Amino acid sequence: MTAPAFGFELLSTDGAARRGRVATAHGTIETPAFMPVGTAGTVKGLTPEAVAGTGAEILLGNTYHLMLRPTAERVERLGGLHTFMNWPKPILTDSGGFQVMSLNSLREMTEKGVTFRSHLDGTKYELTPERSIDIQRMLDADITMVLDECTPHPATREQTESSLGLSMRWAYRSKQAFRTRPGYGLFGIVQGGVYVDLRHRSVAALTDIGFDGYAVGGLAVGEGQEIMFQVLDGTVPALPTDRPRYLMGVGTPADLVGSVQRGIDMFDCVMPTRSGRTAQGFTRRGKVNLRNARHQDDPRPLDAECRCPACRNYSRAYLHHLFRSEEMLGPILLTWHNLTYYQDLMAGLRQAIERREVDDFAAAFHEVQGRGDI
Ligand code: GUN
Ligand code: ZN
Repeated sequence: MTAPAFGFELLSTDGAARRGRVATAHGTIETPAFMPVGTAGTVKGLTPEAVAGTGAEILLGNTYHLMLRPTAERVERLGGLHTFMNWPKPILTDSGGFQVMSLNSLREMTEKGVTFRSHLDGTKYELTPERSIDIQRMLDADITMVLDECTPHPATREQTESSLGLSMRWAYRSKQAFRTRPGYGLFGIVQGGVYVDLRHRSVAALTDIGFDGYAVGGLAVGEGQEIMFQVLDGTVPALPTDRPRYLMGVGTPADLVGSVQRGIDMFDCVMPTRSGRTAQGFTRRGKVNLRNARHQDDPRPLDAECRCPACRNYSRAYLHHLFRSEEMLGPILLTWHNLTYYQDLMAGLRQAIERREVDDFAAAFHEVQGRGDI
């Protein structure tokens, strides 16, 4: 049997919003989709079975973390990341540049790539576009990301232009280095900061090279939601309609709703998992801090409409107790809940697009969130 080709099928649209399906070597992904972050070969606190139970169809893994430990070579010898972590569904890996820049202060950027010292043992590493692509092949990522530079915010037009130039040369080298295999895709990353004409220049450069999907990078870096939406309004319509569009590192539930309305198909963010570990719960009524004393006698579930184990089987009072007692079950249950909430939000958006009701869905979402926690 031949492996399925990598591809994107556009099933229906509602305004700019799209309902689609991405096909990969390890299965299909219904879009709009949210990808939980499994940085170091694990979605912190949950088994892959539990993550799949939330509705997730694809995980994000990180080149940067995995190349340092356990190393891409070891993951490859052990059968690839799917086998190693027992996640048989699709995996997208980020290319490492963003993580080097945000997590490593001992780094140096050149035309060739980025060099840095491991935070684990001080060993010197070099990450070039070619090396990043090779690592992602060894990890067996279904979706590989080009190596790019996430332009910091704020940045002048000149700084952004020069950073964009480097990212586009790296995108070209990444494409040259990528070995085409059925079911495996390579995504380019649009940069250009808050300058819409530079974003257009980036889209033109990437579509010239030709990728299986297009990510929008360099957002959610401190510019705020209003500017992010303005940049999306100016950028997304320039992207090819027949390829998936992925907004990197975004975001809050309201960011996801607004970005889907603007034509984004895929997201990843640490927010549901990281917040789950720090007692912050996302619910249909808004955000809830479970450390707050007002929960200590509350027998109600965190979110009465939620199907997750934390909401079906436990009270707010119990979750509050777990966090106050620093018990590991607190972060586990709240991560489980937050990922379930994010996946159900995406399922709601997919259904709303199919019914051509996405604006009504968004209005109802904002109305209920705006009522606040009760
Ligand atoms: N994650 C969030 N933003 C970015 C970005 O601009 N580039 C990459 N590679 N990863 C990201
Ligand atoms: Zn729940």
